[in-house]
Amino acid sequence: MPEILGASGLSVELGARRGLLRHRPGVRAVDGVELSVREGETFGIVGESGCGKTTLARALLGLQRESGGEIRLEGRSVSGLAPREARRVREAVQYVHQDPGAALDPWWRVGATLAEGLSIHGIPGRAEQQARIAETLAAVGLDPALAERYPHELSGGQQRRVGLARILLLRPKVVILDEPTAGLDLSVQAAVLRLLRDLRARFGLTYIFISHDLSVVRRVCDRVAVMYLGRVVEQGPAETLFAAPGHPYTRALLAAAPRLDGTQTGPALPGDPPSLRAVPSGCRFHPRCGLATPDCAARDPALEDAAPGHRIACLRWRDAA
Ligand SMILES: Nc1ncnc2c1ncn2[C@@H]1O[C@H](COP(=O)(O)OP(=O)(O)O)[C@@H](O)[C@H]1O
Ligand SMILES: [Mg+2]
Repeated sequence: MPEILGASGLSVELGARRGLLRHRPGVRAVDGVELSVREGETFGIVGESGCGKTTLARALLGLQRESGGEIRLEGRSVSGLAPREARRVREAVQYVHQDPGAALDPWWRVGATLAEGLSIHGIPGRAEQQARIAETLAAVGLDPALAERYPHELSGGQQRRVGLARILLLRPKVVILDEPTAGLDLSVQAAVLRLLRDLRARFGLTYIFISHDLSVVRRVCDRVAVMYLGRVVEQGPAETLFAAPGHPYTRALLAAAPRLDGTQTGPALPGDPPSLRAVPSGCRFHPRCGLATPDCAARDPALEDAAPGHRIACLRWRDAA
């Protein structure tokens, strides 16, 4: 399948203050990210909290201006635009917030929130709007009568479904799901994942699935990128990545992930993720890596092909195998 959304050397700086007298440097929450998402797939992005997943999503959406690199949508370069223009050009890319309640106005009935989205996107006419809303609520498995309710009158699972309906109304091609199953009971989680799979087929969607839950990513994603401190350090087919992870960080993440029976196969990752304000020299994972040599503190590895479609940024992955 061809690429639908991609990035090369993408960087995003956050928190910089530029003044006449005082210049405060920002942090690079996304730093040289390489990404290629293919039409129709579910592409996973995993990594510890704070590694830049949401910032990357906001840059892809055009909500956060990139400070360097390129973003491609359906073969066209769409980077370097002013925020309004960026968002307009990237309308085909929509976002489902990691906090489903946050996307809904607490003072508005669900139906009014959904109708507003349609008005903003130039679909006027009350009758047309009502018909589309009812149809879309049914598609996400909700009773259209729920349009009369306020967000607090919905369960967490229902709020998530409304969040999905809200963006489906805008006919997206790529949907970025930010931690779509976080905080849900296992049974609700399974239902949401089933619904996502059905919607992908029915509406011809491509998903970017952001999660720190490796077991969920393993179940639903076709390909996966692993992020560490603003970088993609490994990318490949989900099957390969989970069966034979190449990067020591991916190995450590998998080993530290709790299994269904509550046990872990290996120790938790040593230490906290280092701060973006003091990014380690060379390979940024080297202070936490059991394989690191002095060379790793000196050289910053780029992603290289380990196998067709499987890329690893590590000087020592061959020794780990
Ligand atoms: N406005 C900001 N100014 C400075 N740093 C920020 C800002 N927003 C987020 N960050 C930092 O950027 C990093 C990436 O955050 P985020 O993209 O939310 O990570 P994730 O979604 O992977 O948890 C974090 O270390 C966070 O503290
Ligand atoms: Mg996040």
